[in-house]
Amino acid sequence: KNEVKDLYRNHQNYLDKPVTVGGWIRTIRTSKNFGFIELNDGTFFNSIQIVFENDLENFEEISKLTTGSSILVHGTLVKSPGSKQPFEVKSNEVIIKGVSELEYPLQKKRHTFEFLRTIAHLRPRTNTFSAVFRVRSLLAHAIHTFFQEKGFVYVHAPIITTSDAEGAGEMFKVTTLSNENLAKKDYSKDFFGKEAGLTVSGQLNVETYCMAFGKVYTFGPTFRAENSNTGRHAAEFWMIEPEIAFADLNDDMELAEEMTKFIINYVLEKAPEEMEFFNKFIDKGLIERLKHVSSSDFAKVTYTEAIEILEKSNKKFDFPVKWGNDLQTEHERYLTEEHFKKPVFVTDYPKGIKAFYMKLNPDEKTVAAMDLLVPGIGEIIGGSQREENLETLKSKMDELGLSQEDYWWYLDTRKYGTVEHAGFGLGFERMVMYVTGMQNIRDVVSFPRTPKNADF
Ligand code: 4AD
Ligand code: MG
Repeated sequence: KNEVKDLYRNHQNYLDKPVTVGGWIRTIRTSKNFGFIELNDGTFFNSIQIVFENDLENFEEISKLTTGSSILVHGTLVKSPGSKQPFEVKSNEVIIKGVSELEYPLQKKRHTFEFLRTIAHLRPRTNTFSAVFRVRSLLAHAIHTFFQEKGFVYVHAPIITTSDAEGAGEMFKVTTLSNENLAKKDYSKDFFGKEAGLTVSGQLNVETYCMAFGKVYTFGPTFRAENSNTGRHAAEFWMIEPEIAFADLNDDMELAEEMTKFIINYVLEKAPEEMEFFNKFIDKGLIERLKHVSSSDFAKVTYTEAIEILEKSNKKFDFPVKWGNDLQTEHERYLTEEHFKKPVFVTDYPKGIKAFYMKLNPDEKTVAAMDLLVPGIGEIIGGSQREENLETLKSKMDELGLSQEDYWWYLDTRKYGTVEHAGFGLGFERMVMYVTGMQNIRDVVSFPRTPKNADF
């Protein structure tokens, strides 16, 4: 079987030669003596035109095929007389594999993204989702390539865990207890013997591996029972969490910026057709903007300076701007879209709104944290330098009511050869959105899990 992508890119080599393609019919037009099929084989974003004539013994059956049907075609690649495509396949044999029933929900008209979410199992057969999921796949590869080429070790953090890394109380529970024992909080009969859940972040685990390998990263699914019904939150999402030893917050930001630029360039180079599609139909000017981002420095501002900028903006925000409050999406988007007009790192957040493991700054009010905000989305990366001092970390945990017993293994890293280290978490779906211009996280996840929705 030939791949349509290869036929497009190297069609000179195949002209007037026999080819075989298999795929799903996008459209079919027939007349008495011949017909045209737009066939998509999934290897490429574009479909290929198949011409069939009434000298084929099954001409009648082919003519009756409808959108969605699968066929295998043997034929010759010839120059196309039409102007729409440079070449087409003149078929000698069309083998009908699977007839699509008439109520096939993907018809030629343009469907809304909302409707396509209700047929998440069929939407990869549309142009938009073909492009989105091919780019998503490439982005995953880009991330592995970036870290592997730099000598990072890929660590698989556990999915089931007993520690809530972010301390935000957003863990989904995993238990084998009956409702009765659950009500009594009697975990003696539980599979794990204690309260377990799905991981919200692999960070604590990967910090321990960082203290052995020096440079590590995770790339896996994470889960949050966060009841946020927005276009940027999912209950199940993938996160990339690098962790580097002998490194501070500046090293961390440098790594985040280099990684972001690398993966942007990677997809622009490896998926030019898909990126052209997004540029034309999803987000005008996307390619130019991404090229600019990958070739200029990101902005940097402290949280305290960011609050001043927001206060001076005279803009009406729904949430009050006040030192000590977390930045809301509207604030983040103002900073990155209207003020800096490029990606911006916000650093040194108040300790009260950030996780327990972040390194306390000398001012004792802020921590060495950084969030990377990008236009169109807001926060895409959250990271920090970690508190490597055992005593400071313990008193921080006491303040927050976290039990030192539960985190004994984590505290061991600070007992046995502690060293300054830093890391961050990149929300993979948010990066896919940023690179493709897609507006809703539900449209960059194959089968999204969001409040009241775990279908498929
Ligand atoms: O800022 P967060 O909560 O940071 C952490 O989990 C740290 N442990 C990371 C680290 O330092 N190793 O999450 C990191 C990123 C966010 O910036 C965001 O892009 C994404 O994960 N994220 C979500 N993406 C989709 N849906 C959600 N509900 C998300 N919550 C966080
Ligand atoms: Mg965050």
